[in-house]
Amino acid sequence: MPTHVMNEALGETRLDKGAQGLIGKPLDRYEGRLKVTGKAPYAYETRHGEGVAYGVVVTAPVAKGKVVSIDTLKAFSSPGVIHVLTGDNLPTNSAQPSGDKPAIGGGQIHFYGQVLALVVADSFEAARHGASLVTVECETREGRYDLDAERPNAKVPPPGNMPPDTARGDFERAFAEAEVKLDETYRTPSQSHSAMEPHAAVAEWQGGQLTVHTSCQLVGDNTRQLAAALGIKPDKVRILTPYIGGGFGGKLGIGPEAVLAAMVAKEIGRPVKVALTRQQVYQVTSRRTDTIQRVRIGATRDGRITAIGHESWCSNMAGDDYFEPIGLSTVFLYAGENRLITHRLAELDVLMASAMRAPGEAVGMLALENAMDEMAEKLGLDPIEFRKRNEPDRNPEDDKPFSSRHLIECMEEGARRFGWSEREARPRARQEGDWLIGIGMAAASRKNLLAQSSAEVRLEPDGRAIVLTDMTDIGTGSYTILAQTAGEMLGLPMDRITVLLGDSALPESSGSGGSFGAASAGSSVYIACEALIERLARKMDCAAEDLTLKDGTAVAGNRQVPLVELLAGEALSAEGTLQPGNATKDHHQASYGAHFCEVAVNAVTGETRVRRMLSVCEAGRILNAKTARSQCLGGMIFGIGTALTEELVIDDRNGLLVNHDLAEYHVPVNADVPQLDVVLLDKVDRLASPMASKGLGELGISGAGAAVTNAIYNACGVRVRDYPATLDKVL
Ligand code: MOS
Repeated sequence: MPTHVMNEALGETRLDKGAQGLIGKPLDRYEGRLKVTGKAPYAYETRHGEGVAYGVVVTAPVAKGKVVSIDTLKAFSSPGVIHVLTGDNLPTNSAQPSGDKPAIGGGQIHFYGQVLALVVADSFEAARHGASLVTVECETREGRYDLDAERPNAKVPPPGNMPPDTARGDFERAFAEAEVKLDETYRTPSQSHSAMEPHAAVAEWQGGQLTVHTSCQLVGDNTRQLAAALGIKPDKVRILTPYIGGGFGGKLGIGPEAVLAAMVAKEIGRPVKVALTRQQVYQVTSRRTDTIQRVRIGATRDGRITAIGHESWCSNMAGDDYFEPIGLSTVFLYAGENRLITHRLAELDVLMASAMRAPGEAVGMLALENAMDEMAEKLGLDPIEFRKRNEPDRNPEDDKPFSSRHLIECMEEGARRFGWSEREARPRARQEGDWLIGIGMAAASRKNLLAQSSAEVRLEPDGRAIVLTDMTDIGTGSYTILAQTAGEMLGLPMDRITVLLGDSALPESSGSGGSFGAASAGSSVYIACEALIERLARKMDCAAEDLTLKDGTAVAGNRQVPLVELLAGEALSAEGTLQPGNATKDHHQASYGAHFCEVAVNAVTGETRVRRMLSVCEAGRILNAKTARSQCLGGMIFGIGTALTEELVIDDRNGLLVNHDLAEYHVPVNADVPQLDVVLLDKVDRLASPMASKGLGELGISGAGAAVTNAIYNACGVRVRDYPATLDKVL
């Protein structure tokens, strides 16, 4: 199989030449219309009618304790109920995504919302009624729900997305000796992914073969996780997830609903559907951790950073080592000889903390970029000027070169477009009636990742192409971008390309996560197409580089042959695999941006309204200007939510999740979001991948919330260091 290891930069490619003119084009998402017209079936909608059974989960009513008894008798005798699974009659002691937590917890209760039973019935209504009849008796124990209280017990976690500690020079000494110092602590609350489509699964067995329709981001991993949970071989499991209503990291692992549906489907010999309710999604799946972040910056009087420290504390359940890589951007964003970045993990009896959009940067940059704003003020410098004075020419952690970096250009372009020069440095300098007006900015950066990915591309005798890979499209535009890539490479218009995704029977891709999907899966399509082009060139008796493919025609020298003729009734197929290599190891790779925000803060009520927002983003080659812009918009809106409203409230007396639905967990709605502007700097980063693009999906959220709170400070002179900046904190 043609495999490309990303060891070095490719030269100019067909994607640069753009014979078909598809790369970068702002094309509509292929599945967008299908989704909004109800024609794209989501997992729960895939199986109807005779024989289908429905499961509803019963969750723990307390956060910490022991199950004394679960009474399922009433549920069993309720009309339509077929089966009730509990920890006592589970066929296998299956595992949840992150390892050793059972899909149904038997004896011990580790968090509020832990699944204790699944009631299965002939209809959803009967299952739901049955679930309401299950009575759980438990002993309640004292739990740990407050990160501040558990901070002294926090431990050094094992390395995850980054090592827990990185250091350079002598931070403490340099900070002590610095001419100007900042030492502030910031807090961010737990957050919920809140994807539109709740977690759901439909499982069906045919003999020993299991098919599960579910909503997940990483088909290959998820297939192996599900197989492991059931104690069967991965090749006995097929996962289908062609349409996904949002993921944001909340669907990176296989969920208990899929494991339970599969188990019970086998037991009762019928297809079983299990969907979590919205409340259960909040209680059962996962959250972004809460954080405490101490940022210290020491600088010379003229604004050169000499010491930068970012120490952080986050939380997870006992036995779960995942920590939010809070200092990810602090590692490389600004210069400074003396550096200290630490991560500590505290145990809480609260649901699992997992990756949520831009894990690390999304919350780490709130603290870092607020601190930079505060420090600029102490120095009497414009915030952009302060950042420019601390632009490193190499990764300040290890002196590796950057593959590409356009942060200053992003800030300058944004400043020009946003009218930054009109900003009053002094807070409370602009007022319109009761409203105080302010503007603020923050840098954005998101580490670039690449993951192994495979795809098959088939050229059919009729001159159509089919792209096959288990890649997912979580709303990001994978279908469209992969079609654009194949179309550009093979010289085919979009309507001659079919893309099949989200099926574990197809070649294993990177999946969607960490903003690596477009570059990784796109590159696999690129590589497969290269192999096809070699074979077409042979048929044309020319070298591949002398072959131009455009509008379904092969052109070499003065010969022009329609592809259909060249294929002569024969299909051609090739698989391509991308593997990360030395190019990523030898260079520091990240995407960059700059956010600008204007807010109005009501001097009487403390209400903040975002009035306008602009983000300038640079992520290498832009593959589709429309889907790229949409990703940035989504991130900016997430940033508004992070800054102003989003907060999972956990009652620190009893560990109950207080706001477990979209009515009480406040994501921004239309009225909260003004006209947003996005400017994409279209560059190429040939060290990043054959696509020459860098990760974009999570760049928009990185730093976005800090631009909002910096604008709040500029408006009213209040520094909110405890997110979100709700009215009570702003007044
Ligand atoms: Mo992302 S948080 O890796 O889906």
